[in-house]
Amino acid sequence: MTYLVTGCAGFIGSQICERLLSQNETVIGLDVFTDYYNPERKRKNLAAALKQDRFQFVEGDLAEMDLRPVIESVDCVFHTAGQPGVRGSWGSQFDLYTRNNIRATQRLLECIKETRPGVRVVYSSSSSVYGNTNQLPTSETAVPRPYSPYGATKLAAEHLCNLYHANYGVPVVSLRYFTVYGPRQRPDMAFNIFTKAILQDRPITVLGDGGQTRDFTFVGDIVAANLSASQKPVEGGIFNLGGGSRISLMGAVEILEKIIGKSARIERKERNKGDVRDTWADTTQAQTRLGYKPAVSLEEGLRQQVAWEEEALRAEGELS
Ligand SMILES: NC(=O)c1ccc[n+]([C@@H]2O[C@H](COP(=O)([O-])OP(=O)(O)OC[C@H]3O[C@@H](n4cnc5c(N)ncnc54)[C@H](O)[C@@H]3O)[C@@H](O)[C@H]2O)c1
Repeated sequence: MTYLVTGCAGFIGSQICERLLSQNETVIGLDVFTDYYNPERKRKNLAAALKQDRFQFVEGDLAEMDLRPVIESVDCVFHTAGQPGVRGSWGSQFDLYTRNNIRATQRLLECIKETRPGVRVVYSSSSSVYGNTNQLPTSETAVPRPYSPYGATKLAAEHLCNLYHANYGVPVVSLRYFTVYGPRQRPDMAFNIFTKAILQDRPITVLGDGGQTRDFTFVGDIVAANLSASQKPVEGGIFNLGGGSRISLMGAVEILEKIIGKSARIERKERNKGDVRDTWADTTQAQTRLGYKPAVSLEEGLRQQVAWEEEALRAEGELS
């Protein structure tokens, strides 16, 4: 099997590549190094994969490039490329979201339909499709009502996956990730920002009252679920992936303080538009049909993230 990982230089995509390579699979990675965060970080994410003979890197933009030569040579696609982030999705930035989330996904599916309709696509969807739901824990049957422009684009791309499956039989599976964390977490995400600030003795900004809850999911568990979704007979399926570690933001800060061994200096600001109050995944479907079982506890996963962050900051001369 040859696998394509789109967004291969990102937080999640780079770790899918490495897991596949560790299992002796052949991998083509595709990324355009968007500047949403420092592309140097992305190049570092990709460094280990680039050392492997069974890895080929294609630098290209899904929203523009001729995808045919790539699709012709693969059997399965992990589609993680996209424009993440709830807060930046308002205003003029929305064009980036429609381009990298909707248009890029449509072009990928269209090329598969035309070139190799049997290629399986495992799509990185998001809990943001649910919006501010009252149904907690939330199952896949809840009516999706995104609360941010980002969520609307992730849902639109998920619908595209469904309709290419329904009309043309493209074997697509959508995985709705609930806040992913762990080594290489994007620098715009809360745990990354908090860890860096506490290590550098700077204050952290908590938005709202800090009582908002999230179902945090360790990146290694997300990677394992992607691999199962590529192997099990679940074409056309949609699955929640949560870590089973739902906790308030302030509760998570307390765990970080314990791991780092320092107290956080907390400043408060009003919550951002588009941020939902609570997320909590019902993962019954993923457990029964994908064999999904989160293996890493929040405390253990945060230890791994803190260790990675310390090393990265030292290497960048930002921590003595
Ligand atoms: N991290 C999370 O908590 C989370 C939660 C839910 C869903 N997701 C989804 O998972 C996916 C991966 O997220 P991440 O946190 O690893 O983000 P990331 O930004 O680290 O990785 C995304 C990668 O996609 C690349 N990319 C963007 N547009 C592209 C294009 N047009 N062509 C080629 N490459 C392109 C970027 O350069 C980047 O390297 C995204 O689709 C995101 O919406 C992430």
